[in-house]
Amino acid sequence: MILIGGTATNGIDDSLSKILSVPSVKVENKIFPDGESYIRIPISVKNEEVVLVQTTDYPQDKHLIELFLMSETIKDLGAKKLTVIVPYLAYSRQDRRFKDGEAVSVKTILHLLSEVGIDSLVVVEPHKPEEISHFRGEIKIVHPYIQLSRKIRELTTNPFILAPDRGALERARQIAEDLGASYSYIEKERDRNTGEVRIKDIPNMTLKDKDVVIVDDIISTGGTVAQASKLAYSLGAKSVIAAAVHLLLSNNAKERLVQAGVKNIIGTNTVKTEDKDIIVVDISYSIASVL
Ligand code: R5P
Repeated sequence: MILIGGTATNGIDDSLSKILSVPSVKVENKIFPDGESYIRIPISVKNEEVVLVQTTDYPQDKHLIELFLMSETIKDLGAKKLTVIVPYLAYSRQDRRFKDGEAVSVKTILHLLSEVGIDSLVVVEPHKPEEISHFRGEIKIVHPYIQLSRKIRELTTNPFILAPDRGALERARQIAEDLGASYSYIEKERDRNTGEVRIKDIPNMTLKDKDVVIVDDIISTGGTVAQASKLAYSLGAKSVIAAAVHLLLSNNAKERLVQAGVKNIIGTNTVKTEDKDIIVVDISYSIASVL
């Protein structure tokens, strides 16, 4: 197996190299004066099984184009099999037409990935596992819950896992069961024009003396978790922690979370995070286990 680190890996290629005891090489990349990306695969891949790592965090469009260029080049150069690991799949939340005329973006991205020679696609925590079926080759999904629950165990004494919407309930259940904790979900509505989130009240729930951990796939503007945190405190929570697989933290998301009383923010290395206050867990072991 030849392991190639793409233009955005957040160190996952290096971790996989150590875990799997296979050497890894970095793709050659520069930006032309007009802003276009240059890609070169610096080793022979003829008749080899190649694993390429490329996340598609910010700047998403650039990382996606580079992924298309790298993938097709590897197959053009004669690779026998190409497996691509995409730790964070951009555009995955636009999985349907919420308003008439909208692009179903994740469908287009996965159709394009199907056209550039990828035989097997590994995606960490896609927004909805069923959306990945738009990819036409083999698909493997990674849920890095073990790493998240290990960190939650370290930081809490009386954890309660809260899903910030019904769609996040299965994730909350799995993490709660790993911790031996209780769990539940709340219901949210998002205004499709302003993006603002509203959480419905839950009259009969009590979170008295609980270390509430709000677990989601993505934190972007922080609106969902901030609203959920305020509700958790109003229901008696002792403390609130936010944990998400993909911490996009757009604009002033971190400040928003802190103002809503969130004590710790836990994320993973699927997305680049330079903020030292954020707790980042490496999910490479979960990826290695599906390779
Ligand atoms: C939505 O369905 C996702 O699972 C997340 O809850 C959402 O993307 C979080 O976005 P934000 O942080 O902007 O509220």
